[in-house]
Amino acid sequence: MSTTLSLVQQPAAEFIAPPPSRLDVERLRQDFPGLQQEVYPGKPLVFLDSAASAQKPRQVIDAMADFMRQDYANVHRGVHALSQRSSEAYEQARARVAGFLNAPENGIVFTRSTTEAINLVAQSWAGENLNAGDAMLITELEHHANIVPWQLAAQRSGFEIRIARIHDDGSLDIEDWRRKLPGCKLVAMAQVSNVLGTRLPVETCIAEAQAVGARVLLDATQAAVHEPLDVAALGVDFLTLTGHKLYGPTGIGVLYGKPEILDAMPPYQGGGDMIETVTFSGSTYRAAPYRFEAGTPAIVEAVGLAAAIDWLEGWGLEPIAAHEAELLSVAQARLAEIPGLTIHGTAPGKVAVLSFTLKGAHPHDIGTILDREGIAVRVGQHCAEPLMNRLGVSATVRASFAAYNTLAEAEALATALTKVQEIFG
Ligand code: ALA
Repeated sequence: MSTTLSLVQQPAAEFIAPPPSRLDVERLRQDFPGLQQEVYPGKPLVFLDSAASAQKPRQVIDAMADFMRQDYANVHRGVHALSQRSSEAYEQARARVAGFLNAPENGIVFTRSTTEAINLVAQSWAGENLNAGDAMLITELEHHANIVPWQLAAQRSGFEIRIARIHDDGSLDIEDWRRKLPGCKLVAMAQVSNVLGTRLPVETCIAEAQAVGARVLLDATQAAVHEPLDVAALGVDFLTLTGHKLYGPTGIGVLYGKPEILDAMPPYQGGGDMIETVTFSGSTYRAAPYRFEAGTPAIVEAVGLAAAIDWLEGWGLEPIAAHEAELLSVAQARLAEIPGLTIHGTAPGKVAVLSFTLKGAHPHDIGTILDREGIAVRVGQHCAEPLMNRLGVSATVRASFAAYNTLAEAEALATALTKVQEIFG
């Protein structure tokens, strides 16, 4: 088996560019104060690290600041007006997320992050439902957040974690996945790889997993910024996402669960607000989602997440996706012209996340040189060490594109990389 993915070798002329997007990117960019700066004199910021965390539009910043100025108090506890306004804003944020996912409101649990959402399911649902002799299935391209929580649960309960392989282009080896599915009680998978940009065939996997009686958790962290999500249409049992990659704040994530599954799960953390009654001989718990929201939640961040969804849907996920596809197409074509450059992940239908290595140059050196040109990329393992091992590399450079990136920025990346290649080539 080859350990490296295929080199994208098409010359630019052979690329069939998607139709020009309808997105007014220059106007959209004006929403982002963080983008209006030079990081070094004469070097305007080219931010290509949005898969790690997206820049924030002023609508999110203002919504959070206004809320803290005018409406802030703790939620669910006060009879006073501010607490009621705050509680209303927090629950409206839940309703906004529910609408975004086409989910019932009682299926939306606010967490700190995707990582916490997956840990919640691993400790609560898997703790009850996966025992020695059981198995679950993940894939070779998962983020550490969709590996380590299951390993921790498996260490406690003794269940088996199976790993479905990927092909050299970064797509899922569906035949291997199918071979490993029988006997699994849970399937957990990314909808989109944070490293390769691969979009996994989640609709097929959900249908086939549920046909053998398995529950399915989708890590939609990367997908949520690139395509509309509909948990009702997907029929998925659990889905996770995080606010900060969705142009929202850090410190807020979402676990969607089918309400009947959430209600049957034991609490993940204990504390205030998640209980019905507490005595020294024992406590009883509220229904979902509140039983999973112990303590004061991320109130301000929930308001910010709702504002981010308003912003995103205001511009429209479809025009954004079309624009990002154009950026990816141009960047791939230009990078393919650079001698010694290998793009890792060339699966059809991938999103605008571009991981690459350059012969003779360490990713950290590339990242540092690009930074000096004002271009922010991520270098390293991208929280996916097993995938790096599969690719046969110690690290990659990752350029990830968002709604606010321009074709000129894709060109700037290629120009800067050509200079890097001349230094190291
Ligand atoms: N998970 C984040 C990334 O892919 C941090 O960069």
